[in-house]
Amino acid sequence: MLGRGSGSSSLRDNKLEPLLQGIQPEFTSGLRYSYRPYGIFEKLGIPGPKPYIYLGTVGRHHKVYYEDDVLSAKKYGKVWGTYEFRTPMLVVMDPEMLKTILVKECFTYFTNRRNPGDILQNLINSQTASKPSKGQPTQGLSDHEISTQVTMMMFAGYETSNITLAFLAYNLATNPEVMKRLQEEIDSTFPDKGAVQYEALLQMEYLDCVVNESLRLYPPAGRLDRVAKETVKIGDITIPKDMLVMVPVYALQRDPELWPQPEEFRPDR
Ligand code: HEM
Repeated sequence: MLGRGSGSSSLRDNKLEPLLQGIQPEFTSGLRYSYRPYGIFEKLGIPGPKPYIYLGTVGRHHKVYYEDDVLSAKKYGKVWGTYEFRTPMLVVMDPEMLKTILVKECFTYFTNRRNPGDILQNLINSQTASKPSKGQPTQGLSDHEISTQVTMMMFAGYETSNITLAFLAYNLATNPEVMKRLQEEIDSTFPDKGAVQYEALLQMEYLDCVVNESLRLYPPAGRLDRVAKETVKIGDITIPKDMLVMVPVYALQRDPELWPQPEEFRPDR
């Protein structure tokens, strides 16, 4: 399944070169720069929409990004190439490839580009030991900077939890038979409106199914991304070093091959 790829692919689209013959060098270098990223997926034999200069393929099939992914999946299959403006972005919806990218090799060949590692520990480790002296650049983070970062994380956690609960309430309200069954599970787990116990909560299988099904239909993060740390071959696909790899979560979780009648809220799946 997985192999170390041989070398990294150039981003240059050689089709441009014959067209540039006889044009002023200053102008051609600008054009080469503009077109440089485009053409990589054609070379790799990966399908996808044709990019526009500077704009790439953003919103090509639908202005809402996750609906664009659904339409692209119908057109191109499980793997396709897009350009986020000038950045090539490989989209992977194939479950076997995703197991390798997100689980088996997630640290060897891929990184979460936002911030790998234990964020809080990194923040604490980088705290300034003493106040910066006059004229000296500040080393590490101050208390204020750490509290700003933690506040940001709290908002990130707040928004995701908030969206999850809002859609859960919506799905229960529009599926009364599910709500009734869930109420029965709650009443049998915590009789006489008893206090909620964490261990007992973990045993609530139907609650788990209901929350998972709600997150499948309405994932708060419609896309995930990784970056290839080195060139790697997964199955028939070679992913070049530094390639941005995107997981179209929303489209994946509504793929009719994986989820029959994907639009339906069915916690028993
Ligand atoms: C239902 C609630 C939540 C959902 C659905 C959710 C979803 C996600 C997803 C999909 C990711 C990206 C994972 C990946 O790239 O593999 C993520 C990352 C993250 N989430 Fe949440 N999240 C939730 C709650 C929270 C809470 C409560 C916090 C903090 C208090 C939080 C903080 C973070 C942080 C810091 C990351 C980045 C981790 C990293 O890059 O290493 N999330 N979350």
